Amino acid sequence: MLTLIKNGTLVTEDKSQVGDLLIEDEKIIKIAEKINHGENMEVIDASGLFVLPGGVDVHVHLDLPMFGTVSSDDHYTGTKAAAFGGTTTVIDFISQDSDDLLKNVKELKEKAASKAAVDYSFHANITHLTETVEKDIPLLVKEGITSLKVFTAYNNRLRLQDGEIFKVMRIARDNGILTMLHAENGDVIEIMVKEAVEAQHLSPDWHAKTRPSWGAVESVMRASAISAMADAPLYIVHMNAGGEVDLLEYAQTHGLKVFGETCPQYLFFTEDDLAKADGAKWICSPPMRTKQDQLRLWQGLETGIVQTIATDHCPFFYDGSTPITYEGNSIAIPGKELGKGDFTKIPNGLPGVGDRMPILWTEMVVSGRFTVNQFVKLTCTNPAKLFGMYPQKGTLQTGSDADLVLWDPNKKLQYGIAYSQQRTDYNLYEGWKLNGYPVSVYSRGELIVEQGRWLGKPGRGKFISRKTFTSDCLG
Ligand code: URP
Ligand code: ZN
Ligand code: ZN
Repeated sequence: MLTLIKNGTLVTEDKSQVGDLLIEDEKIIKIAEKINHGENMEVIDASGLFVLPGGVDVHVHLDLPMFGTVSSDDHYTGTKAAAFGGTTTVIDFISQDSDDLLKNVKELKEKAASKAAVDYSFHANITHLTETVEKDIPLLVKEGITSLKVFTAYNNRLRLQDGEIFKVMRIARDNGILTMLHAENGDVIEIMVKEAVEAQHLSPDWHAKTRPSWGAVESVMRASAISAMADAPLYIVHMNAGGEVDLLEYAQTHGLKVFGETCPQYLFFTEDDLAKADGAKWICSPPMRTKQDQLRLWQGLETGIVQTIATDHCPFFYDGSTPITYEGNSIAIPGKELGKGDFTKIPNGLPGVGDRMPILWTEMVVSGRFTVNQFVKLTCTNPAKLFGMYPQKGTLQTGSDADLVLWDPNKKLQYGIAYSQQRTDYNLYEGWKLNGYPVSVYSRGELIVEQGRWLGKPGRGKFISRKTFTSDCLG
């Protein structure tokens, strides 16, 4: 099957040019200024549209159990929402619920296989280190999993001690695995949460007050120092504080292979949003910070200190006692209301996988602050490169998967829950005016979204077995 996309503006991280792109089955087989129609070719006129590589969101949580409930997008609904927003590859996390890492891998692979509607992969959380786990980490590579996540927060649940992080980083380094870090100070948080509860400070804004940004900053410094001592690369997830950018820059200027990710919520919202009547909607960890932090994060993106924008998509219903209609069925999943009157019981996380590309297009490209090439680099190419999927994903090249987004720069709309397909009852960007939107989305050559119509199906997404990390991957 051949599909010819004609006269679109083809965009990669370093160039934009009007041209044609030919797809055969799942792959891009030719890109040129002009490709002649052949027999048995479906021809799509992309005049006036941008043709972008499908977005790559390297930080999502699907079907994640938390606080007695579960995040409300599973591997079907979350990947469908991703597709509607122009994202065609996601990376989810494997929780470590035993010493047997490979069992956890097998279980999540089985769960996702029949559900995912776009391509996906997994990172492995390492949250309990034993000799068995140390021996098993290298085996992840054979499973196509070449990144793991460690935490300096969530005491007695997910956190590793510094020496354990050092050990994990060395094992990861020896096996071409990239270590990712959740940077917060678990000890300080534990004390501050206890004191807040004792003082009956239970409203959502106390979530941010009990997780100070200095904890994130010192954790980035600490982990960067550990990465230097372990001679291992490091990737900081969900950067939220300006000081994290400062410390990442410090580490980079000292020659360390340290990389950073931020997420839209940290670029657009502040701790003031948690103080609103519906502040629970903004509860995630790490929390929102201040306007100054936002400015430094934007600078980090502009100057290349921060290399990717992911989402940390982990939605919950705001009111999980009231059903919504999803694909014609009524559904309600317990959510933020579990913590009504006590912020410590509000499930942490928010929706974003479908919002990322459309919101950032307007805020980055239309605003004139970033070029369309920088947009592609931060949301598609760098994520694919850092996580061993390039050039299969994240670019438009002969031989790449035909994951494409036809983007209409002239489409104007008022965004919100009527557009986003995330399976929850609210959208953080409700009412935002957008200029530009994805109109057609292809995943491995298959048209799965067309003018707001869903043509994909559960189970069509494939697991992407990723290459090992190399420190020159960003070129
Ligand atoms: O609040 C969030 N982001 N929940 C997901 C877990 C994490 O640490 O990324
Ligand atoms: Zn995290
Ligand atoms: Zn996360």
